Amino acid sequence: MHLFSYHNPTTLFFGKGQIIAVRRAIPEKHKVLVLYGGGSVKKNSVLDQVRAALNKHTFLEFGGIEPNPSYETLMGAVELAKREGIDYLLAVGGGSVIDGAKFIAAAIPFEGKDAWDIVEKHAPVTKVLPLSCVLTLPAAGSESNNGAVISHTAKGVKLPFFHPQLYPVFAVLDPTTTYTLPLKQIGNGVVDAFVHVAEQYLTAPAQAFVQDYYAEGLLKTLLEIGPQTLQHPLDYEARANFMWAANQALNGLIGVGVPQDWSTHMIGHELTAMYGFDHAQTLAAILPHNLRVRRKSKRAKLLQYARRVWNITESDEEKAIDMAINKTAAFFEAMGLKSSLAKLGVERDVIEKLPVRLQEHGLTALGEHGEVTPVVVKQILTASMG
Ligand code: NZQ
Ligand code: ZN
Repeated sequence: MHLFSYHNPTTLFFGKGQIIAVRRAIPEKHKVLVLYGGGSVKKNSVLDQVRAALNKHTFLEFGGIEPNPSYETLMGAVELAKREGIDYLLAVGGGSVIDGAKFIAAAIPFEGKDAWDIVEKHAPVTKVLPLSCVLTLPAAGSESNNGAVISHTAKGVKLPFFHPQLYPVFAVLDPTTTYTLPLKQIGNGVVDAFVHVAEQYLTAPAQAFVQDYYAEGLLKTLLEIGPQTLQHPLDYEARANFMWAANQALNGLIGVGVPQDWSTHMIGHELTAMYGFDHAQTLAAILPHNLRVRRKSKRAKLLQYARRVWNITESDEEKAIDMAINKTAAFFEAMGLKSSLAKLGVERDVIEKLPVRLQEHGLTALGEHGEVTPVVVKQILTASMG
């Protein structure tokens, strides 16, 4: 196991009825900006619950943060917040609203010329506004990590950024807020969380028993409750386990002391920027092919995955690995996503174009050993094109 430091400061309020916790958790001295997306939180009364919890606070609202939140939209909130003297952000929604809040929190006190530099040029950020969230879509894990992924529409790019001060102060995880999710977003959330675990687990052995067994437990949980929660939208226990698994998949815990991959995510961000696909859809179309192309270097963990997660007893080890990868792709399909770029109808020129974009973003040595070069990316894309 590698050396590590672990600190996750986000307080979680988990369970039905927990939105009221917002009242005590945000000191009344703050002037709050409530951020939300395209309106789902208005339809399902989550915003009403937040307003009721904040009835002793001074607060304003800013809606319209879109999936794959854009710099352009977020700068509207930055201007409003500066004008109104906002000093606390409360994101109400899925990963996009929470990621957007993180960018806004860093952009408000930013003294440089253009806040986009925080994302693209890693411009130093010394001060951020406190932010918290009410999660309505289990998927990204953004509610208790310090990362965000922001799109710049004019430039046509989607890039991640991280900052140690951007962990939310607290996150409310009330599974009943997810009852109104469209089936497509349930499938997206389960697959995104599954791939988060895969990118931290399907790498190289590190003698990290705790992280491995925990990762396998999360994967098995997602395999079990994924179909269940698709079929029974009002099943509280299924939603609760989904919400908790997605949170644990990317709160930093299973990634400590072990190699991490993230090449599927980096390829996926380019696919969203190029074609507008949902984040999880890009992952479903890439991960199985990424695993096939890199099966030699990932062999030990792939075999462990086949045996422990899928209970495959086939004695031929190569066959067992094939079976595990095929079952992974079939699971993504069962969750309503396509498991290849060919099935998504993408043109073959993606094989040439996408690695160039990764190069432009300095992403030429991805993967747990830096072995995912533009040549390997081409192999993965070629495999996904069938
Ligand atoms: O905008 P509204 O109207 O709220 O509708 C949203 C949106 O259309 C809807 N929705 C959310 N909660 C709902 C609901 N509809 C009905 N009932 C509810 N309870 O779902 C749609 C998708 O929402 P979005 O927030 O975009 O989805 P998700 O949570 O999957 O977030 C995706 C974003 O997270 C980033 C992705 O790149 C993508 O931009 N990620 C962030 C990460 C992080 N910060 O650590 C890691 C992830 O890998 C991911 O990259
Ligand atoms: Zn993801």
